[in-house]
Amino acid sequence: MKKDFIAVTDFTTDEILDTFKLAREVKAKLKNRENYRPFEGQTMSMIFAKPSARTRISFETGFFRLGGHALYLSPDDISIGKREAVKDIARVVSRYNDMIMARLFDHQHMLEMAEYSTAPVVNGLTDFNHPCQIMADMLTILEHRGNLENLKITYVGDGNNIVHSWLNLAKRLPFHFVCACPEGYGPDNALVEAARNAGQSTIEILHDPKAAVKGADVIYTDVWASMGKKEEAEERAKQFQAFQVNDELMAATGKESYFMHCLPAERDRETTDSVMESKTSIVFDQAENRMHAQNAIMLKLAGLA
Ligand code: CP
Ligand code: NVA
Repeated sequence: MKKDFIAVTDFTTDEILDTFKLAREVKAKLKNRENYRPFEGQTMSMIFAKPSARTRISFETGFFRLGGHALYLSPDDISIGKREAVKDIARVVSRYNDMIMARLFDHQHMLEMAEYSTAPVVNGLTDFNHPCQIMADMLTILEHRGNLENLKITYVGDGNNIVHSWLNLAKRLPFHFVCACPEGYGPDNALVEAARNAGQSTIEILHDPKAAVKGADVIYTDVWASMGKKEEAEERAKQFQAFQVNDELMAATGKESYFMHCLPAERDRETTDSVMESKTSIVFDQAENRMHAQNAIMLKLAGLA
């Protein structure tokens, strides 16, 4: 049975913890320039329907450094769902390649891709979730704190695909997750309930950012208008004004908290230059760890580790 990584919950708790361990081992090998080429002779198609910097660069670089060859397919190359049906392209690509990574708008398309592909499919973001990002984020927190005990993460901003992946991780690992968002911009209710019912984590959805960040170990934010919602950017800028992560909000945690952002960041909107550049900002460690987390995910899907 081939395995896919469409949601964090495609991995068990043990598999998630093992992914973090493997990511750190492979990261050390790459830093030491060891000759480690488990993907020798393998190819991966990377299908993009949306723009990307980190996802494209980290997957292509990671797969190459582990001995494989990755092909970048831009939104114009495949035009998924327009030029060709998802189920057709999934079967074609998996005849050529050992792995597929895709970044799509519609989450249903990602599920269809996984259903029809005979090669493992890795989700590089949909409108609904971004599982590789959250694996990299928790790996980064683990590296900085040394453990994941008594962890409070407060996400401030739009209840979007990033929040959905945090909620999925909260089903597998115990932590306190708070989402502070304007009314009407919360995450999917059914997913919030499912995360609560999993019985691992404490989940709160709040609308007062100052109260939400109190005592948080990590403050996390993301753009107010995601890809596909950019035409709402000006309206959202008004609705989200009180949710900017600035020095004042960082001080309201009452402790030295890490600042995280999946990037790309829009300075002077969801956060400020001062917070991005502050000494507790770990956004670039987080960006680097995209590659290391994904390498471990791909190795596990390929049955190579
Ligand atoms: N964080 C992230 O996925 O970045 P890109 O959109 O640049 O890939
Ligand atoms: N929520 C953002 C994440 C970008 C990595 C988006 O979907 O555009």
